[in-house]
Amino acid sequence: MGSVIPPEVIEEIKSRSDIVEVIGSFVQLKRAGNASFKGLCPFHQEKTPSFHVDGSRQMFHCFGCGKGGDVVRFVMDKENLSFVDAVHMLASRAGVVIPEYAGASSPEEARQRGSQRERLLALNEAMAAFFAENLRRDPQGPAAVYLRGRGLSPEDARRFRIGAAPDGWTAGLEFARSRGFTDKEMLAAGLARQKEGSARCYDQFRGRLTFAIANEHGRVCGFSARSLEAKPADGGKYINTPETPVFHKGHLLYGLAAARKAIAESGHAILCEGQMDTIAFHRAGVDCAVAPLGTAFTPDQAKILKRYTSRLLLAFDSDGAGQKAVERAAEILLPLSMDVRVISIPGGKDPDELFSTGGAEAVRGLVGTARPLMSVLASRLPGKFDLATPVGRGEAAAWMAGFLKHVENRVELEGYATEAAEALSVSVEAIYAELAGARRLERRREGFTQETRKTPAPAVRAEDRFVYPAALLSLLELAVNSDDAARRIAELVEPEELTSQDPVTRALNTILGAAVNGEFEQGIGEVRDALTDRPVPEISRILIEHTACPDTERAVSESVAEFRRIRRRDRKKELMEKLRHASSGEDKMKLLAEIAGLS
Ligand code: UTP
Ligand code: MN
Repeated sequence: MGSVIPPEVIEEIKSRSDIVEVIGSFVQLKRAGNASFKGLCPFHQEKTPSFHVDGSRQMFHCFGCGKGGDVVRFVMDKENLSFVDAVHMLASRAGVVIPEYAGASSPEEARQRGSQRERLLALNEAMAAFFAENLRRDPQGPAAVYLRGRGLSPEDARRFRIGAAPDGWTAGLEFARSRGFTDKEMLAAGLARQKEGSARCYDQFRGRLTFAIANEHGRVCGFSARSLEAKPADGGKYINTPETPVFHKGHLLYGLAAARKAIAESGHAILCEGQMDTIAFHRAGVDCAVAPLGTAFTPDQAKILKRYTSRLLLAFDSDGAGQKAVERAAEILLPLSMDVRVISIPGGKDPDELFSTGGAEAVRGLVGTARPLMSVLASRLPGKFDLATPVGRGEAAAWMAGFLKHVENRVELEGYATEAAEALSVSVEAIYAELAGARRLERRREGFTQETRKTPAPAVRAEDRFVYPAALLSLLELAVNSDDAARRIAELVEPEELTSQDPVTRALNTILGAAVNGEFEQGIGEVRDALTDRPVPEISRILIEHTACPDTERAVSESVAEFRRIRRRDRKKELMEKLRHASSGEDKMKLLAEIAGLS
């Protein structure tokens, strides 16, 4: 039972995912024509570009290895994802919210779950407005006083969707009811709680400062609420929305929706520790900062960030906990081939404190302090290990090798290995030897997981390697490139001549059918979309080539004649074969008659 995404949503996602843009974020593309681009194929090793991307037809094809298809197919192949996962990835890129959810077994059920999600998102949005209004209305209240104390203006509160939850037990519930939401929905959204063994509900967040948490698409899906007391009577310093159908803490990054554009523009993201640090960066004009939500940084969050950038600057505290956090993040990020750098904050402060003392300028300066992770780790060796003893140096080298093994660029690696060797006062060779061991272990582990993991079906299956008659291919080529040619072919060729179920004949049928119905372009789209499920190199090649034909009329009639000749030849072969095995005289006569009719 997979999850079902409504077809109209898939359509919308595809139409909002420009293939040139999507592929361009993986492959360096050079313009090769009006809407066509070329680059080095990401699916096989090559030195000269044979990988083509066509914006007008929204498809790709590699003349080297034959891979081709639409934008979904590309993501499936490139990222090794299922159709549904690829669509999800494109959806988040394109900012399309998928109104469905995992486990739905029919479009109807998906729609129902989708509408529940929509209700919960609408409820969160309404509550964010309610909390904001509550804060605005009471400038002398504890929340407003606290915010001022931290240097945040009412304008900042508005921008970052900060609010205040009323102190009463049911003020939030009453507001939600007045907006047509049920207590059940308040419970489902994690905005209310129920007393055990009682039907009575009460507000989850009371008397706290609230930070609205937006999902990747900028929709409010939950809250993080900070206590205004020095020693909170209930809960911790922060209370977050619990897991709900729209709020998954381990998949959310605070500030991401606001950061997306800046991440794309600057080519990096900044990962900091909490909301206040994220806000400090954004206030300073560094909009690419995000933070996890009260949990340690997770692999899921890393994968989300990687969709936007592969360079991440870590802005953690410089205390012991912050250092550990850097190492943990590195272990998650390096296997994803992320380029990790570490920001150092002067005076052991966090970015929020730095903003208070040094202002925007000081926070903006942090980006320039980012150093490569490996150098930072090497510089930590003397503090972590007893380098005076051979055993300590051995441990340090092994520890360092565990990180270095992820560095692929040799020049870079040499630099870091030298730094590590210097820090340890050992030879670079010793570091390389440690590294070789670490890599062997890594390979063995990978080999094992790959063997044991179910490998997805290869994109090009055996039946796709069928050799198509040139005439059939040229008919498809003519049909694809001219509405008129397609109609002319439809006039000349009998439907009975095109009954073969191979993908090329089917594609030709689709286009002929579409052309005679005045839907030529839709026909092309259908043929391209069919490549998602079943890539056929011949078809993607033909679609991407845009071969112009100077004399369509003549080419059509020649190709049709050739196509018929081939069919007759094949039919004759088939009949001769039958003749050889026919037993009754009557059968033989029939076969002979048909063979005669063919020549
Ligand atoms: P911090 O204690 O560093 O919070 O925790 P902060 O953002 O700097 O907040 P201020 O400056 O004290 O107001 C980092 C993050 O960990 C989560 C929050 O998301 C916070 O932003 N956290 C912290 C919790 O979820 N619960 C807690 O009790 C504490
Ligand atoms: Mn803080």
